[in-house]
Amino acid sequence: MKIIYSIKEMSDFSKKMHLQDQTIGFVPTMGALHVGHLSLIRKARGENDKVVVGIFVNPMQFGPKEDYKRYPRNLKLDAQLCRQEGTDVIFYPDVRQMYPANYKTYVVVQDLSDCLCGKFRPGHFKGVATVVTKLINIISPDVAYFGQKDAQQAIIIKKMVEDLNLAVKIKAMPTIREKDGLAMSSRNTYLHKDQRRDAVVLYQALTQAKDLIRQGNRDSLDIIRKMRRLINKRRSANIQYISIVCPQDLKPVDKIRNKVLIALAVFIGKTRLIDNIVVSP
Ligand code: PAJ
Repeated sequence: MKIIYSIKEMSDFSKKMHLQDQTIGFVPTMGALHVGHLSLIRKARGENDKVVVGIFVNPMQFGPKEDYKRYPRNLKLDAQLCRQEGTDVIFYPDVRQMYPANYKTYVVVQDLSDCLCGKFRPGHFKGVATVVTKLINIISPDVAYFGQKDAQQAIIIKKMVEDLNLAVKIKAMPTIREKDGLAMSSRNTYLHKDQRRDAVVLYQALTQAKDLIRQGNRDSLDIIRKMRRLINKRRSANIQYISIVCPQDLKPVDKIRNKVLIALAVFIGKTRLIDNIVVSP
């Protein structure tokens, strides 16, 4: 396994692979890899000749009061995990190469970026769309793999690839969870012991919503009210939003007739966690 630090070297590697008719699967990450990330790498490994894992903590997608500085970084451990999963290349560029001092260009996916998490993290999805466009242009992968854990991100990236005619296929893979249901996340490492116990309530609320819909409840407001009640029982939990939306355009759904995306963001102490499920009535 190679670790490539330079953009030029990364593009040269990709060009060489394509000349040899080798397909490239790409898994963009910010590192601090966990089993959720590894599931994407495994999928990419199974479907491509070469696997590139991107590790880049992208400052553009963090707000001024967010955790960019303290975001967990551990290249040594990440490299070990990537190697175990049969990764061919880790692409590990630095910030100055990705965003030189005179950097001016951004990618904005309108409407889809302003709701749900976008409402509370202004500029976040602009940062995500911009960095993913750059990474796709540098690596030219055949397929790029994303997690359903960040459902809004996956939807935005699919729309961006369609609108900009980028020559890559986007695949969204299922959320990997801890035994008790908590969605795996690099940010779970911030949780203290009692907070970790409370954090399971995100999944419990989503499961409750799914059960209610399966039992015939079609009223989003009522379902959200019940989810709020359950989450608010946990001392360290503070709800940022709970929404029931259409999985295509992310517009709110009042009466549930078709498949819906139920998404939420909850602070557990100071740690902001997100989760979601898709449910058919
Ligand atoms: P990061 O949070 O490191 O996540 C990298 C990829 O792993 C994303 O596609 C995310 O949805 C997926 N992922 C995270 N937790 C998962 C889980 N429990 N199960 C399945 N997949 C999971 O998302 C980002 O980085 C960044 O925004 C990035 C796309 C790299 C752009 O900077």
